[in-house]
Amino acid sequence: MFWENKYKNEKFVWGENPSELGKITVQYLKSNNLINKNLELLDIGCGYGRDVLYISMNINCKILGIDSSKEAIILAKKSKKKDIEFRHCDFKDLDDTKFDIITSSNFYQILKKQERNALIKTISKILKPNGLLFLSTLSVNDPEHFGEGIPISGEPNSYQIGTYVHFCTYDELKRDFNFLNIEKLYEHEYYEPRVTGDVHHHISWILIGKNIVT
Ligand SMILES: C[S@@+](CC[C@H](N)C(=O)[O-])C[C@H]1O[C@@H](n2cnc3c(N)ncnc32)[C@H](O)[C@@H]1O
Repeated sequence: MFWENKYKNEKFVWGENPSELGKITVQYLKSNNLINKNLELLDIGCGYGRDVLYISMNINCKILGIDSSKEAIILAKKSKKKDIEFRHCDFKDLDDTKFDIITSSNFYQILKKQERNALIKTISKILKPNGLLFLSTLSVNDPEHFGEGIPISGEPNSYQIGTYVHFCTYDELKRDFNFLNIEKLYEHEYYEPRVTGDVHHHISWILIGKNIVT
């Protein structure tokens, strides 16, 4: 309900420019000569599709964006572009279709431990051998929200701030994504504009990992 209301009331919550992760993904793919390979991409928790659109404008690929908010997918579907599909579904309902690249911007942080584990299982199942994961998620050093709201008992670094929000440590992400060869894991500081006129100051982890299958 939280996300339905958010998109109903605010529509394009973070504006129409890509997220920081969207920009980082495109930069990485360009600098690694991966823009003309007809890649198959999946954006998990794509919201109204700002990253799907941006990536598709810069990379030669086929992209699926999924989100469990019906409102978000209605907004996303307003952009009609070839080779883009938006689907209203929970990540747990994805089938076994495999992808070269999976992106997920600021989604991991809103999942409880059990759901984070389910997401990891899903990613490990549907990321192709040598496939890449691009993930951003709030850090325990986030200056905007860490320590705000009601702490969740028994769950370290987790708060109820309108919705559930979990803040990650470096060691936690290293451990959670140890099935990948982690190429990059670093804190990224940025200012995020919002349609309400506010600007949020964030520090998120950026994780880039490759599915090396031996
Ligand atoms: C913080 S928003 C990020 C949206 C988008 N990635 C962006 O950066 O613009 C998190 C999104 O996850 C979606 N979501 C929450 N639980 C989900 C689930 N179980 N499966 C798929 N999407 C989910 C919400 O509806 C929301 O759009």
